Amino acid sequence: MNKDIILPEFYSIDLHSHLIPGIDDGSLNMEQSIQMVKTLKEMGFKKLITTPHIMSHKFPNNKDIILRGLDYLKNELVSNNIDIPIQAAAEYYYDEHFMELIEKKDLLTFGDNYVLFEFSYTTPVFGLEQVVYKLLSAGYKPILAHPERYSYFNSKLEKYHQLKDMGLLFQLNVNSLNNFYGKKVKIAAKYLVDRGLVDFIGSDTHRPNYLESLQKSLSLKEFKSIENKNRILNKYL
Ligand SMILES: [Fe+2]
Repeated sequence: MNKDIILPEFYSIDLHSHLIPGIDDGSLNMEQSIQMVKTLKEMGFKKLITTPHIMSHKFPNNKDIILRGLDYLKNELVSNNIDIPIQAAAEYYYDEHFMELIEKKDLLTFGDNYVLFEFSYTTPVFGLEQVVYKLLSAGYKPILAHPERYSYFNSKLEKYHQLKDMGLLFQLNVNSLNNFYGKKVKIAAKYLVDRGLVDFIGSDTHRPNYLESLQKSLSLKEFKSIENKNRILNKYL
């Protein structure tokens, strides 16, 4: 780990990661989870909010599975003398099951009733406006995970303003600024930063290589400009 990197205060808390082992496409096993949490602590994070996928066709997780997984992880962290507050919510995929959970007001939230969600990377979604309205009416504050990664917005950057006008908050992946997801994603990420559209930033850590890239991303001038142009809310979580 590069010891010269100092994590700035506006990014003292990470709100997007897949650190619970074996329940989604994130951490493969407890050993890897421990390694990643240890690195995040060494990088200077004061608190972690981990967000396993809930996606009915691929990762059929629920509150119980996630909270049990969190307990298991926390116990192992104690045994390994790694002391960092860690809580869990979810990264919901926009599908029928998500709609049902909104109706039942049964979502995992963090901070000020925030809900992190995502939708298809490749196919434009329908009915988004109604979902956002549903979430807001139920008292939730919806955060769209990594808006820069949806390929169909990459050529229509002005769409982002419409999404914000619906009442969505945006969470940018820091690694998007570092070509980690490709050139188009990087351009979209810079657009969001420059226009002041970003509310939260996250690591979206799945595997150790995400953290190697994250450490490099933190020294980019694009990363440093986030704070000047956006009101980042991470530190209030
Ligand atoms: Fe994620």
